[in-house]
Amino acid sequence: MKFSFYTDDIAKLSSALVGVVCFEEGLSESPTFQSIDRALGGILAKLVTEEQFKGKKGQSLLLHTHGKVGAERVLLIGAGARKDFQPYDLRGIAARIVRDGNKISAQSVAMVVPYTEGTVMERAAQFLAEGARLGAYKFDKYLTADKDEKDKKPAVEEFKITLGSENGDAAKSDTIRNAVQRGERIAAAIAHARDLVNEPAAEMTPKKLAEIATRDAKQYGLEIKVLGPKECEKLGMGMFLGVAQGSEEEPRLIHLIYRPRAVGGKAAAPRKKIALIGKGVTFDSGGLSLKPSAGMEDMKIDMAGAAAVISAIGALADLSVPFEVHAVAACTENMPSGKSYKLGDVLKSMNGKTVEINNTDAEGRLTLGDAMTYIIGEAKPDEMFDFATLTGACMVALGPHTAGVMGNDLSLVERWLAAARLAGEEMWHLPLPEKLKEQLKSDIADMKNTGERWGGALTAGLFLKEFVGDTAWVHVDIAGPASSDKEAGHLTKGGTGFGVATIVEYLAGRPA
Ligand code: BES
Ligand code: MN
Ligand code: ZN
Repeated sequence: MKFSFYTDDIAKLSSALVGVVCFEEGLSESPTFQSIDRALGGILAKLVTEEQFKGKKGQSLLLHTHGKVGAERVLLIGAGARKDFQPYDLRGIAARIVRDGNKISAQSVAMVVPYTEGTVMERAAQFLAEGARLGAYKFDKYLTADKDEKDKKPAVEEFKITLGSENGDAAKSDTIRNAVQRGERIAAAIAHARDLVNEPAAEMTPKKLAEIATRDAKQYGLEIKVLGPKECEKLGMGMFLGVAQGSEEEPRLIHLIYRPRAVGGKAAAPRKKIALIGKGVTFDSGGLSLKPSAGMEDMKIDMAGAAAVISAIGALADLSVPFEVHAVAACTENMPSGKSYKLGDVLKSMNGKTVEINNTDAEGRLTLGDAMTYIIGEAKPDEMFDFATLTGACMVALGPHTAGVMGNDLSLVERWLAAARLAGEEMWHLPLPEKLKEQLKSDIADMKNTGERWGGALTAGLFLKEFVGDTAWVHVDIAGPASSDKEAGHLTKGGTGFGVATIVEYLAGRPA
């Protein structure tokens, strides 16, 4: 999609569809609204009253212009209260415009960036580019009906963005171009993560994930190590292999490395090392603690953490972040079989701790524990983040859209949450109360893998904490937001690519 920037009067800009962002207060006083209303002879203001369009979030109103303005159709989009508007809200708005544009086979769509206090035009451009790409995301490779429909390229080829005359310089600047490119790169990473998650488990096996990561590594100039069961055994990853042993599919530990290139031939200065760990359970049946059918139905998404870190590191490389980044995903299925790990088994982790299994469905923490021990030994990261669809309890606590964030370093947690707020991914800090560790006490091993019902997200976090040593660490439980049950804003049904945007925001900051 081509993005072009204008400072012209929106009423004169030609397109098939122009989106007009409307806030609740002073709805009909915005220059954009007035300019179009004037050109339409005042019918916009009338219509808004008649149709009770109040600019509430989610409200919209479409009308044909019959050639009275440059756009064939005007789509009023409610954006709620102006003071609550955030730059990332532009993602959902761009997604909406492109989606509606595609539906009516519009070749070009347009919009005006609404002015709110503190609007930074390059941030706006980035989010618009992200939203435009993600709103058009589709996972339709298995649909055979409607084949003609599917083969049709999305109609919208050009997105015209009007910045307002006070931003005339910005419209022409490289900064805006770069911001668009950055938005497109982030969106591509998110779409990549969605593809990995949406693929059925029969296809997206640990081996397949490793193949894709290997292809990615070539494309983005990353180092990669892929460890099979033998190598993992040598390293003593008893927890990871315990989970894997019930499956016919071999496990793979994927380790991608991005090293910033030294500039100007000089040796690179010592830099912060970052580890990103992703839970990569390509199918979670629960194992012998088998899930009921309804709970198992979506469990191909249990590798969404792996998808996020594998996808994000490619973008970080393309954006030339100044840190050394390691992405690690211990990938396996969790299956019941004659070879499965059993309740009451004692597994020996890579860091030497022994774990009594009292629920084979609490498998994620076992795979992550060994992955974290592995990367601490390999890279000694300064900061470590794990992303995991870890507990249903986290969804009970925070609902389906918000990730639970735990950690052992308050300042790191706060910096991470600040990045999440800027990136527009909902996350909330949860505690790791030492008292709850009692729940993990075992009579015959150093600990059990599962606590009681209350505080299930926290005991999972406490379990992980046993494997981080003194590394500054943040745990992100993405069980809820990793997938969406409906199309909403820039999200599409299925995998969401959650986590990627905050990783990039945290490590690549704002556009220059
Ligand atoms: N992968 C699940 C968690 C999950 C549930 C993710 C729903 C996304 C949606 C995880 O492995 C699991 O089964 N957790 C158990 C833990 C319990 C046995 C302590 C859970 O949440 O029920
Ligand atoms: Mn499970
Ligand atoms: Zn799981």
